[in-house]
Amino acid sequence: MKELLERLSREKPERIVALTGAGISAESGIPTFRSAGGLWNTFKVEDLATPEAFARNPDTVWQWYESRRAQIRGVEPNAAHHALGRLGRHPRVDLTVITQNVDDLHERAGSNHVLHLHGSIFRVRCCSEGNTFDRREAFDVNPPRCDCGSLLRPDVVWFGEPLDLDTLNAASAAVERAELLIVIGTSATVYPAAGLAWMCRGYTIEINPVETSLTGYAQLTIRSTASNAVPPIVDTILGAADG
Ligand code: OAD
Repeated sequence: MKELLERLSREKPERIVALTGAGISAESGIPTFRSAGGLWNTFKVEDLATPEAFARNPDTVWQWYESRRAQIRGVEPNAAHHALGRLGRHPRVDLTVITQNVDDLHERAGSNHVLHLHGSIFRVRCCSEGNTFDRREAFDVNPPRCDCGSLLRPDVVWFGEPLDLDTLNAASAAVERAELLIVIGTSATVYPAAGLAWMCRGYTIEINPVETSLTGYAQLTIRSTASNAVPPIVDTILGAADG
């Protein structure tokens, strides 16, 4: 860590990407997917996060999403989200946050350039018209319907569905031009999100308490939690940018 902080002070990176996964929100109280107690160790993907599951049982899928939406409404961004918010607000720093998370904790911590690869849990989409709108509060009925009478669904990416191409292209472009990529709290198992990290030509740091497939590839892995590791890195970059 000491060497990294010295390097950041010296090199003063300005084009920076943070690629985040469920681990960055874990310390806010949102469970990850694959760690101990993770959602996919408790629930079955094929019952809750596929278009087929929604077609079979929209009320079951919505019940699960409403419980996650309520949980996310009830938690706060942690020190890692806040540090990235500070970093993005510095006039000399060009920060893109690329997240696999569907929560809104980056935005609530002040990040204003966030690409949500897997959609947003507080946006909903009409299943026939395809129009989307923001909806934070719980619906009164389950499953909720659009004014046109068709079912509404969470505007998230389910297994077997493609990512939004514009979002993915913007994410790829940001990674390709980044001088520094900070990969935070992802198991790097879900593609194409995980593949973005491999496209970086700049310096890559991984922050994760456990080893992942990225570990050998990143120039540096910090075996720590997001809220411990991100703030000192951000403070060093900001100190260098001001120096
Ligand atoms: P995972 O649950 O697969 O991985 C979370 C990672 O965070 C693990 O590698 C943990 O070791 C790490 N972690 C846990 N606590 C941490 C902490 N406090 N600080 C830093 N890291 C910590 O979540 P993702 O990689 O985000 O997709 O999963 C990717 C996608 O799989 C999700 O976006 C979701 C899921 O299925 C869709 O829903 C399409």
